[in-house]
Amino acid sequence: MPRGKDDRLLKGGPIYGRTPGVDTAGEENMKQRYEKNILCIGAGYVGGPTMAVIAHKCPQYRVTVVDINHEKIRQWNSDRLPVFEEGLDGIVAAARGKNLFFSTDIEKGIKESEIIFVAVNTPTKTFGAGAGMAADLQYWEKTARQIREAADSPKIVVEKCTIPVRTALAMERILTSKSSRIDFEVVSNPEFLSEGTAIGDLESPDRVLIGSRETAGGIRARREIAGIYENWVPKERIIESNIWSSELSKLVANAFLAQRISSINAVSALCEKTEADVAEVGRAIGMDSRLGSSFLKASVGFGGSCFKKDILNLVYLCKSHGLHEVADYWESVVKINEYQKERFVLNMLGSMFNTLAGKKICLFGFAFKAGTGDTRETPALYVAKRLAEERAEIVITDPKALDNAKIDLAGIDGIRYVGDPYKAAAGCDAIAVLTEWGLYAGLDYRKVYRSMVKPAFIFDGRNVLDHQGLHKIGFNVFPIGKTALVHF
Ligand code: NAD
Ligand code: UGA
Repeated sequence: MPRGKDDRLLKGGPIYGRTPGVDTAGEENMKQRYEKNILCIGAGYVGGPTMAVIAHKCPQYRVTVVDINHEKIRQWNSDRLPVFEEGLDGIVAAARGKNLFFSTDIEKGIKESEIIFVAVNTPTKTFGAGAGMAADLQYWEKTARQIREAADSPKIVVEKCTIPVRTALAMERILTSKSSRIDFEVVSNPEFLSEGTAIGDLESPDRVLIGSRETAGGIRARREIAGIYENWVPKERIIESNIWSSELSKLVANAFLAQRISSINAVSALCEKTEADVAEVGRAIGMDSRLGSSFLKASVGFGGSCFKKDILNLVYLCKSHGLHEVADYWESVVKINEYQKERFVLNMLGSMFNTLAGKKICLFGFAFKAGTGDTRETPALYVAKRLAEERAEIVITDPKALDNAKIDLAGIDGIRYVGDPYKAAAGCDAIAVLTEWGLYAGLDYRKVYRSMVKPAFIFDGRNVLDHQGLHKIGFNVFPIGKTALVHF
């Protein structure tokens, strides 16, 4: 008798993502018909959307995503996915139960698949040697051991997660440390998607990078992985390289992107002292085709789960190779980011007469960027904590991230979470824009102004509002990297 989904969850057994009514025997028969059986270990922000796009673009493959987190798998099998990304719901709904499955049965998934993507989390280590800097590889290592234990046929293991350069060597050593001789080829295929635009990035990537050993087996394996992407990505955008270059390129890409933000944020501080305008400077330098215009928006600071962690990982790697000057260079990107967040808070404090105690401050946005509910390393968390230290009363509004904000700030009493930005701002002394949600630019600021305590302040940590217009309404306006517009 097939059991219901809830029943399966309660018993902790395998949960396959078939739609009600699709029977097991049918699924077994269908499996034979698939050209490739692909497994992804890790059903997070990367694993879920990436595999959903592969399944959607390649109906000839059978794609299974597994995770140790039963609740997450339950959500992937429900109408409320654990990841919010524009377009993801439709893709998952179209493929799930046909050639896309979400399961907790990792062993079965390993046995049945020829290609195994590993997309587990690789956070910054919080303990022991390298704490606060090195990548914590415990989840990744457990995965390698799981594959080794369960595999009974040759596998291509694909590093999808971001890891230190030369991790593939450790992966190979673990995989081949069992007496039974099974062929494993380790391939690096780092992911470059951005949150908020994940589906577009996956459907139309700037490039797909695939690195392998330069052996016959390694090159065969990377051709096999390239073959997956060739179903929808033009061949000239699929780059093949040696495995170490591929691993390192991922860290370096994130370091370069973050470096641009820290560079423009450093310039924003100078603009505020000199009446230069950081947007004008960014525009002027960005039109140089050698520089390009992306990632030149000054802000309260960069956030997200990866920039800081990946740069610190790079810093640690440099230090462990004795390259201390190189390590210091990259570490300064993170230092400027910390400085920018603190500078934002100190600017609020200084502008509001050097005391925030008892003042009500409304945070417009808590997500680390627009288009996502993700709050990992969001600058808003730093700002909220610092404002709480100054004993301000905090009200937070965000269209997608309030649930995460409540979790992040669980230890701090008295914070209010309000969905409607008008209600959130009412009765406040100041608004701080911390996420560039489009809706904030479209609000009726006359109405907002009327409801606030005077003098009313706006600190635009994303430079998304009409500063002149707000000033005319009566606000004291403090953008990033531009002269403040005040009434006193
Ligand atoms: P995540 O935390 O959202 O997801 C990781 C998942 O792996 C979790 O659900 C966790 O339960 C699962 N997991 C951990 N150990 C496991 C095991 N042994 N077996 C099965 N499942 C296990 O992380 P993420 O944001 O998807 O990031 C994954 C990797 O991709 C990281 O290395 C990250 O640096 C990299 N990356 C992330 C992004 C992004 O935008 N988030 C973009 C590019 C690359
Ligand atoms: C980043 C990279 O852009 C992806 O290529 C990479 O795959 C990913 O990290 C990863 O490895 O996890 P993501 O963190 O999702 O993607 O988002 P970004 O768009 O890069 O934004 C990161 C932060 O920088 C955000 O807080 C954003 O607001 C900020 N930012 C971005 C600026 O402050 N100014 C800018 O000009 C651009």
